[in-house]
Amino acid sequence: MTDIKVELGQIKNFVSDNQIDTYNKKIQGTFRTIYGRTGAGNDFLGWVDLPSSITAEFMADIKNKAEELRKKSEVFVVIGIGGSYLGARAVIEALVNHFSNLVKTDSPKVIFAGHTMSEDYMADLLKLLDSKDYSMTMISKSGTTTEPAVAFRILKNHIEKKYGKEEARKRIVAITDKAKGALKVLADNEGYKTYVVPDNVGGRYSVLTPVGLLPIAVAGIDIEKFIGGAQLMERYCIENQNESNVAAKYAVARQTLYHLGKTNEILVNYEPRLQYFSEWWKQLYGESEGKDGKGIFPASVTFTTDLHSMGQYIQEGLRNLMETVISVENPDSDIRIPEDDANLDQLNYIAGRRLSEVNLTAEKATILAHVDGGVPNIRIAVPRIDADIMGQLIYFFEMACALSGYMLEVNPFNQPGVEAYKKNMFALLGKAGYEELREKLLEERGEMRD
Ligand code: PA5
Repeated sequence: MTDIKVELGQIKNFVSDNQIDTYNKKIQGTFRTIYGRTGAGNDFLGWVDLPSSITAEFMADIKNKAEELRKKSEVFVVIGIGGSYLGARAVIEALVNHFSNLVKTDSPKVIFAGHTMSEDYMADLLKLLDSKDYSMTMISKSGTTTEPAVAFRILKNHIEKKYGKEEARKRIVAITDKAKGALKVLADNEGYKTYVVPDNVGGRYSVLTPVGLLPIAVAGIDIEKFIGGAQLMERYCIENQNESNVAAKYAVARQTLYHLGKTNEILVNYEPRLQYFSEWWKQLYGESEGKDGKGIFPASVTFTTDLHSMGQYIQEGLRNLMETVISVENPDSDIRIPEDDANLDQLNYIAGRRLSEVNLTAEKATILAHVDGGVPNIRIAVPRIDADIMGQLIYFFEMACALSGYMLEVNPFNQPGVEAYKKNMFALLGKAGYEELREKLLEERGEMRD
């Protein structure tokens, strides 16, 4: 049984049973499309049985490599963009100490590069790496993505100067396609330890492959437990291919609301450690559904922080919003609000109560206010945040995304729209083969001439 609950009580004012039923009736067929591998993009369904196909040998290899890197690194740099970094970042930030950059732990600090082309970011990173022992992984499924390739070129140069070529090679791990792409050729030439991103797993579905597992293991997180959570959810989905399945409930609710005009979904959390989980979720849903002129626009907020910035809009702005709250019901700690004799802040009425109780009350109060303001609310509750729950959540959202995408009648596994900016950038940078496009861009958009 899964630990994830999906509560739909707070969408009831906005949808009729008939409207929900329209999508409920599609669920069994949609599960058949996924498990029967008959839908669009079915050559990218490797994530479906990925958790159960992970072998003990593979896990041992990842753990051994991670241990070796941990021993020689104060810092571990993960170079990648999109699906090649967001999953690892989401899981690591959810599970390490909030102040891990400032407190001493026995794990390397995992930091990221290649997800931005900011020169200032790179300058600060190089300065930091001058004074730290470090190792790194270059992750690119295609092996040709510009942002990580540029970062890797710079960092490879740095690490080779710092340690010499031979030691540098031992500190670099390449994670890429099994046969094609520039990174594969380079990794073979240099003799880097290499892990494969399976052909049938797209970037945004790859956190349970070495793309996520190596960085997560280097951060000191129990990857057996993490995979165990995903395996549990995989079994649960196989055994519950119907509308009672929590992933199906979530997919049905969001599709029903979308077709009633709620075109923007805000993922809400009350735990700052889940901020990057929201970033991972945004990529998963945005790239999977936003195509063919359709799709729910995914946004995210962290409450109560953002109640003091976005709260006004959500309460009273354009009424095209739905909210999905990830609620953590029993946080680990136990911090109580102290009594104060003077009571100048008039908080004695909550003295003795846990901070988490106040946080959960803020959640309830906000849901009621937003529902009253016209924003339907889906609540996804988990008992705690640990590696097992993170594994469950990852698989839950992946399955729900595939169900939702197929009900929307799009291919949830491609991302043709991502190419448009790349072509323009190559043309404007003067890459060979893009001369015609360059001329066209400069002619039509003369103001962009460099
Ligand atoms: O989900 C996706 O496929 C993309 O976000 C990719 O992960 C991203 O573009 C990086 O691609 P690559 O791993 O080929 O460098």
